[in-house]
Amino acid sequence: MAVIENSKITIVGAGSVGSSVAYAALIRGSARHIVLYDIDTAKVEAEVLDLAHGTLFAGSGDIVGGSDIGAAEGSHVVVITAGAKQKPGQSRMELAEVNAGIIRTLMPQLLAVAPRAIYVIVTNPCDVLTVIAREVSGLPAERVFSSGTVLDTARLRWLLGRRAGVSAANVHAYIIGEHGDTEFPLWSSAMIGTVPVLEWATPDGGRLTVGELDRIAVDVRDAAYQVIRGKGATNYAIGLSSTRIVEAVLRDEQAVLPVSTVLEGFHGVDGIALSVPSLITAAGASPVRETWFSANELELFGRSADALRDAIGGVR
Ligand code: LAC
Repeated sequence: MAVIENSKITIVGAGSVGSSVAYAALIRGSARHIVLYDIDTAKVEAEVLDLAHGTLFAGSGDIVGGSDIGAAEGSHVVVITAGAKQKPGQSRMELAEVNAGIIRTLMPQLLAVAPRAIYVIVTNPCDVLTVIAREVSGLPAERVFSSGTVLDTARLRWLLGRRAGVSAANVHAYIIGEHGDTEFPLWSSAMIGTVPVLEWATPDGGRLTVGELDRIAVDVRDAAYQVIRGKGATNYAIGLSSTRIVEAVLRDEQAVLPVSTVLEGFHGVDGIALSVPSLITAAGASPVRETWFSANELELFGRSADALRDAIGGVR
């Protein structure tokens, strides 16, 4: 499939996450046309104006929007950020019921105006909501997926890169599973450059230890709680990681990113959405089936699947 020309994205929800996705997309020049939509007319019009005032200094895109969902017409990608957000100390899963209702309302309205779009769910709990969005839309799994652990993976690569004294771009490691409390790193395949992570010489001349890697994984898992405690929300990094996913679709990049799709027979998981390394093209996302798990990783993946199964059961 060719690279999409005259690309158009719609971001649903003009809260701190949606506005940050729009800001990142504008600055990165991710799409030619950016639309921001929200039911709160005053808020969305103000965000659009504020962003539009800066377009002179941004990429080559333009931004419009408001509370008319018709503005999403013909979008190639729709990013959904609308919904309740975590309060300090609250888990993502606690938002499932209220945000599932929002997704059930939004999906048919969006499909009516953007029937051919790829849908990226950012609203939490994004894995649960991906299952709901797929059910209500009837779309194939590759066309409705969530930002999943793309952000968590960026957090891991940043932390590990700092400790190892190497650019995050050259840390090859993934967080997979739930975007939340049961996520975990695929340490068995983690490399820095071409060197297995435990063999890399750190700036102090030592080696990374298993204990240190475990602490890094916990810090990654709890990163959002830390940010939310301090400023009430996370927005910039999720804005950047969401636009990275959008670009991979619009440019038909064949990039590998750990997004969350409804899995069918992936290491024993069926019918629930979890993040695994996935190939992103203009057609959407498909899990990389050859991804290898150690026995321990397989067990952790099963635990993440159990957590998701329970949560989905609670909102059906
Ligand atoms: C975070 C939110 C987006 O991890 O879930 O920052």
